[in-house]
Amino acid sequence: MALKSLLKNSGLALLGRVTRRCVVMLPQEARSESEIFDLRAPYSADDPLRIELRETIPGSITATLLEYKGHFPTGRLWESSPFKYAGPCDFVFSLSDGMVHIAGHSWGKAPVPRSRRFCWLFTLSSEDNLKRSRMTGHYFKVSNRVNDAQYFQGDNYVNHKLQSIGEHARVIELMRQHGANDPVLEIGCATGGLLEELDKKRIQSYGLDISEWAVEKAQEKLGPDRVWLCDAEAKSYPEALLRHGPFGTLVLWAVFEHFRNPFGVLENLTRFVRLGSTLLINTTNANSLCHTIFGPEWEGFFDWTHLGVEQVSVAALARELPRLGWRISEMSTHLTWDGNADPTRATLREWWAADARFRRMLVERDLGDLITCVAVRE
Ligand SMILES: C[S@@+](CC[C@H](N)C(=O)[O-])C[C@H]1O[C@@H](n2cnc3c(N)ncnc32)[C@H](O)[C@@H]1O
Repeated sequence: MALKSLLKNSGLALLGRVTRRCVVMLPQEARSESEIFDLRAPYSADDPLRIELRETIPGSITATLLEYKGHFPTGRLWESSPFKYAGPCDFVFSLSDGMVHIAGHSWGKAPVPRSRRFCWLFTLSSEDNLKRSRMTGHYFKVSNRVNDAQYFQGDNYVNHKLQSIGEHARVIELMRQHGANDPVLEIGCATGGLLEELDKKRIQSYGLDISEWAVEKAQEKLGPDRVWLCDAEAKSYPEALLRHGPFGTLVLWAVFEHFRNPFGVLENLTRFVRLGSTLLINTTNANSLCHTIFGPEWEGFFDWTHLGVEQVSVAALARELPRLGWRISEMSTHLTWDGNADPTRATLREWWAADARFRRMLVERDLGDLITCVAVRE
C-alpha cells in the first residue's frame, strides 16, 4: 500500500514537472457522465426511503446495501438479485421492516442498517454495453435524543475523542498568536480533551457541557472543580464555576451552532469575562457554498443538536459581535464539509483538497462551511 502510494505520488510529481501542470487524480466516476447512473436520492432518509431511478437506458440492475464500518461504507449487508430494468421508476426501501421494492415489484427483504449512515449501490449493465453505477448516501434522522455515549461514539461522531485531537493544537496556537490569557472558560468542553492539553501548557482552564456522559468522563480525567454539567442557554451558571472568573479567554469551539439562541448565549457569557479578554469561536457558516447548493441536505443538519445552525454566518457574527462589545480581530471560513458518499457530492470535497484556487475563492468570498473567529472584549 505504502509502495503503491509512493509510486503514485512520485509519478504525479514527475508528470507535473514535465507538463508544468498541477496533476490531480480523481476517482473513476469523474471520467464520464454516461457512467454515472442518473437518480435522485434524499440524504436524510424518511421511512420509506424513496429513490427516483431516472436512467432511460434499459438493462439488468442490481442493488447492494452498505453499512458503515468506521468512516467508510464497507460493510455489504445485502445484495439483490438482478432485475430487468425498463426505464425510470421508483426504488423503495422500508426502514422499519427492510422490504425492498423496485418499479412496484417486491425485490426482497434487506436487514435494516445499524449504523446511522448507510448507502445503496446501483449497478446497471445496459443494452449499449456500458456499465452505469451510482452510490447513494443516506442517514437516519434523529430528534430529541440526549448527547450520550452513542452521540460521541457512533451516531454523530465515529470517535469524537480522536476526531477532535487536531483541533486542540489549533486553539492553543490561536491563543498564542492573539496573546490570550487564562483563566480559560470552554463552553461545550465535551470529555475535556482541550482542557487536558491546556493543563500541559500550565494554562488554567474550566469547562461546562450539557452532556452528562461527557462531563462525567471529563471529571474522571481532570479531577474536581474543573468541569460542570450545565446548559449554556440557562440564565445562571454554577457559582463554583463563576468563582474562577472573570475569565481571560472564552472558547466556543464547535458549539455555537448548537444553541437555540447563539447570540443570546454569547451576550450572557460576556458578563463573565474581563475587558481585553479573547473570544475564540469555531462554528458553521449558514451562507456557505455547500448550504446554498444542497439546501436542506447540507451537512450542517446532520447533527440533530445543531439547533441554531441557520442563524450563524460570517455576516451574523460581523453584525452581532460588535453589538455585544467584541471587536473582531480575525475571521475567515474554511473547508467544504460533506459526509455523503454519493460521488456527485464528493466533488466539492475533492476540489477543496486538490485545488488551491478553489480554496482561495471560497475563503475570499466567505463561502467555506466552517468559520473561525477571534475577537477581543472592549
Ligand atoms: C461538537 S461537540 C464539540 C466539543 C468540543 N468543543 C470540541 O471542539 O471537540 C459540541 C459539544 O457541545 C455540547 N453542547 C451542545 N449544546 C450545549 C449547551 N446548550 N450547553 C452546553 N454544552 C452544549 C455537546 O454536549 C458537545 O459536547
